[in-house]
Amino acid sequence: MPSVTLTPDGAGNACLTVDGTSVATVSIGANGNVGVMLPSPDTTDVYVTRDMTDSLTNKGSGIDASATHITGRKAKRPDIAIPIEDGIPVSPSPGAFPLIGQDDYLYDVMFGMRERKHMAIFGDTGCGKTASIEWLTALLNWNLVIVSITPGSNEDSFIGTQLPAAHEVTGAPTVEWVDRMIASAVRMSHDRPTVLLIDEINRIRDVNEYASLMPLLDGTARLTLATGETIDKGDLVLVATANPPQEYVGTNELDPAFENRLPWTPSITYPAFADEALALLSRVPSLDASVAKRMAEVVSKIRKAGEITHPVGFRTLLMWAEAMVSGCYTWSESAERALVAKFPDDERQPVRNILAMWNVDEAGLPVA
Ligand SMILES: Nc1ncnc2c1ncn2[C@@H]1O[C@H](COP(=O)(O)OP(=O)(O)OP(=O)(O)O)[C@@H](O)[C@H]1O
Ligand SMILES: [Mg+2]
Repeated sequence: MPSVTLTPDGAGNACLTVDGTSVATVSIGANGNVGVMLPSPDTTDVYVTRDMTDSLTNKGSGIDASATHITGRKAKRPDIAIPIEDGIPVSPSPGAFPLIGQDDYLYDVMFGMRERKHMAIFGDTGCGKTASIEWLTALLNWNLVIVSITPGSNEDSFIGTQLPAAHEVTGAPTVEWVDRMIASAVRMSHDRPTVLLIDEINRIRDVNEYASLMPLLDGTARLTLATGETIDKGDLVLVATANPPQEYVGTNELDPAFENRLPWTPSITYPAFADEALALLSRVPSLDASVAKRMAEVVSKIRKAGEITHPVGFRTLLMWAEAMVSGCYTWSESAERALVAKFPDDERQPVRNILAMWNVDEAGLPVA
């Protein structure tokens, strides 16, 4: 245990030293709360002795009396940075859109990629799971192979398949192996870091379908094809995305053994409405900023309303904004077509009630 001292400075604060080095200032507020101010973003742990925890606990710091250290700020984020220009994350290619207001989530995914950790990302529809991987792989110049699971998907459709062919020389009937996305991704990972994105993984119906992927994620790190050929894994990270099971029709629980092999689980939720309004403006620049804010507020209220369960993602917001700026629809017409129509019959009136909470003219601008 390091030697720790707490020296009052006479002005309501105390200097915390560890082995003679000052590591933090401890302040005791008028309400008895104790704040620990760490001097540098590199400092993550501040050690406290039993005596100190006793006195801090007595002063209402919320520190557990048995604690031997308290954790300070997050470690410095040295070499995983999100490039920003004009306040908006950089778009590395025309098809790769940055996510706005999701910095912590993006940082977590970048960490997973840097550490080559297979990941499972759960999140509601349209919150940016797929777009984030498209953007990050474009930014870092990695290969990206996307496999979208549909109810009919099976090994043949996503790993590879044997098709009837004619022998090159004799013309006799034979079979020929054809790589599908997963086999291609594993081969590509020998040339460049590669993300194999299995989108909507929990739409796989048969748990046996996971079995062929397991060795790729284990120490064996190879894919065995139906022909018996094996392809060793190169520099490959598997990212699986899924909508939360139970809440979405057609989704299933992930096979626990498979989920276990995806150790890093960045979590993503819809951004705060102010960020979503900014995101909307970045995609539809001709939209009036106050209209963008109102749209994002409406959608945020819908997501919080207890009687509305149908999810509403960014795509809906985007469609609504595009309908508005087209000049073809008024505020209420575009809302009815792009937003209300997305909900099941019994949830449409509650959505209209939320829309009616704002007094706006048909251009979506506030009525004085
Ligand atoms: N925070 C955001 N900032 C900017 N654009 C966003 C944001 N969130 C989502 N989008 C955009 O919304 C669209 C839908 O995102 P995406 O397809 O990644 O959603 P998803 O989470 O994969 O949804 P699903 O579960 O339905 O597959 C994309 O065009 C994406 O760029
Ligand atoms: Mg997706």
